[in-house]
Amino acid sequence: MKIIGINGSPRKANTYTLLKILLQSAEKTYSAKTEIIELRRKKIKPCIGCFKCSDQTEEDYACPSLKGDDMEEIITQLIEADGIIFGSPVYFGGVTAQLKAFMDRTQPLLRYSKNKFKNCLRNKVGGALVVGGNRNGGLEATIQGIHHYCFIQDMVVVGTGPDEQPGCYLGAAGFSGTHPTKGSRVLDAVLSDPLAVYSAEVLGRRVGEMCNIIEAGR
Ligand SMILES: Cc1cc2nc3c(=O)[nH]c(=O)nc-3n(C[C@H](O)[C@H](O)[C@H](O)COP(=O)(O)O)c2cc1C
Repeated sequence: MKIIGINGSPRKANTYTLLKILLQSAEKTYSAKTEIIELRRKKIKPCIGCFKCSDQTEEDYACPSLKGDDMEEIITQLIEADGIIFGSPVYFGGVTAQLKAFMDRTQPLLRYSKNKFKNCLRNKVGGALVVGGNRNGGLEATIQGIHHYCFIQDMVVVGTGPDEQPGCYLGAAGFSGTHPTKGSRVLDAVLSDPLAVYSAEVLGRRVGEMCNIIEAGR
């Protein structure tokens, strides 16, 4: 079982810290192999809306217009995964520009594409992990934005499972503004939020559980 965490933060900070906890939980419970893809280290040009990626059948590239950046390599990594966790800081009530650019560039993976990558995220397990500098600063809306993406890619979306008090029903959600003066400038402040840590652990287990169920069904 392979579970990939995508870190959409421009920093190696709270989102990374929480993603690590989530992936370690899946490793421990399901012996999953895990990996984090750091979008801040990748070159991802924003989609220009030409639809050439969906229409092209012959070229090997996911996107004939923007070939040469790192999207090709990332898509190839995702094909190997059974589960994918999309991690993002909350920026103005939604995902970061880095994660959104990545999402838009996965257009050739959709159901109506003629591209060789068509449907390659289909039936992979998807989960959302978010961190906000405010407790109620748009965390659940950001999770739902990620869920919409997963549904559109025909992924199997999971929340935090049957736990009675998961901290967040929809996914892993953390508050990084816990320091009285520095707020979310503290790179691992999210560790002071017990609900963040717990929701990450239960989501890690839930993703692992669903990967196993899907594998058994295959
Ligand atoms: C441009 C920008 C917009 C932000 N918007 C929000 C917001 O709408 N809601 C919120 O709770 N926090 C917001 N924050 C705070 C970040 O979510 C917070 O700093 C978070 O810890 C960043 O994740 P990271 O530590 O992984 O980089 C914003 C931060 C920045 C830089």
